[in-house]
Amino acid sequence: MKRKAIYPGSFDPPTNGHLDLIERGSKIFDELIVAILRNPEKDPLFSVNERRQMLESMTGSFDNVSVDTFHGLTVDYALRVEAQAILRGIRAISDYEYELQMALMNRKLQPGLETVFMMPAARYSYLSSRLVREVAQLGGPVDCLVPDLVAQKLREKMEVANKFSGANRSASEPETKAKRAERASEQKAKERKINPRKKKS
Ligand code: PNS
Repeated sequence: MKRKAIYPGSFDPPTNGHLDLIERGSKIFDELIVAILRNPEKDPLFSVNERRQMLESMTGSFDNVSVDTFHGLTVDYALRVEAQAILRGIRAISDYEYELQMALMNRKLQPGLETVFMMPAARYSYLSSRLVREVAQLGGPVDCLVPDLVAQKLREKMEVANKFSGANRSASEPETKAKRAERASEQKAKERKINPRKKKS
């Protein structure tokens, strides 16, 4: 029997850590499906289609890796595609509690399905999609954190976001002290013109 696994996640955006895990998973499973969760409650930076395209391009060189999307329960999706295992990455002990909870819940829901944890290379142990998004949004370099294609897509996203916020800045920017003082003195000058003080005789 072929050993088939799914690697579910948000991948917003996919990072070098994800790629490292995909490579490791592709070596121990005959078939690995990278499964992007379609979550209508989340407001992602990249659309599901954008994430799918990035992951397809990143994994094109692995013959036994494919990319798919799903919604609903991970265990239901795993059953649908006839996978026997769920692959998840654990970077540090801090990941463990959440991952254990999820794995045990998935086991409760579907006892025949195994969760397999793998560790990415130590150099990626600090890396997360959330931090990559934050660094990119604040203008930091992300080149060593994500594949080139993803870095390029992040730059494009940021350019669009900056253009948009630049256009709206004057309307939304809070008034500075200096501006407030300037406005107050202009107001006083106006009042003086309307109601000039009488000279004392
Ligand atoms: O990359 P992420 O955000 O850590 O991935 C989390 C994911 C998608 C694996 C998890 O949220 C999930 O499995 N969601 C699908 C809904 C589900 O099955 N929930 C019960 C899990 S215990």
